[in-house]
Amino acid sequence: MRRVRLEANYDLFQSRAANWRDTLNISMLISNHLDPEEIRTACRASAIEYIKKVTKLGDTMFELLSEALGLKRDHLTAIEFGGGCSFVVHYYPACPEPELTLGAGKHSDPAFLTVVLQDQLGGLQVMHQNQWVDVQPIHGGLVVNIGDLLQIISNDKFRSVDHRVLANNVGPRISVAFFFSGVFATPKQYGPIKELITEENPPLYRNFLVSEYIGEFNAKALDESLLDHFKL
Ligand code: OGA
Ligand code: NI
Repeated sequence: MRRVRLEANYDLFQSRAANWRDTLNISMLISNHLDPEEIRTACRASAIEYIKKVTKLGDTMFELLSEALGLKRDHLTAIEFGGGCSFVVHYYPACPEPELTLGAGKHSDPAFLTVVLQDQLGGLQVMHQNQWVDVQPIHGGLVVNIGDLLQIISNDKFRSVDHRVLANNVGPRISVAFFFSGVFATPKQYGPIKELITEENPPLYRNFLVSEYIGEFNAKALDESLLDHFKL
């Protein structure tokens, strides 16, 4: 329940091989509040500045995604996103036997949207047409992932992307991910957006609470998909 956490190896006791990374997790998911004093001074100012800027970028992206769905510009901002988020900084140490494990196992993100900043080492891959494709680092470029929650509320118009990070014998690799996760508190429920539902397009998922989704996510191995769990 801590808002600032250090996570080592992520799912060591659930997966067959250790995720070759450690993570600083600054979570504004449950309380939607952050006390700067909780962040170590070494990264306090830069973390807060980054969070501010990426939140603003999120506003713009949610407007564009609303328009892409044929909805009013503020639709997603108004109902979905005024909520929780988390900011994570991953540290992937050099791995002496990279072929035996992964930096991050295959998964889709437990969020509406994720914004990732990766360094020049690369290693991030996305599943595209049944093949792993490298996401080449672009200096100053950001990677945006559609997460499971956006797939659910868009009733499959947007698809969440499976991705992973390779382990590497050079390192450390450092990346920063920001998750837009929606309102965590009860009774806010999410489900397929009503305006997208018609007779030909019936809802594919049931309504759910973000806390329920995150609870399920934390209880499973990283590479298990949760979408089926919410399918009608
Ligand atoms: C994640 C993730 C990718 C990366 O944090 O969910 O997929 O490049 N990160 O670290
Ligand atoms: Ni991810």
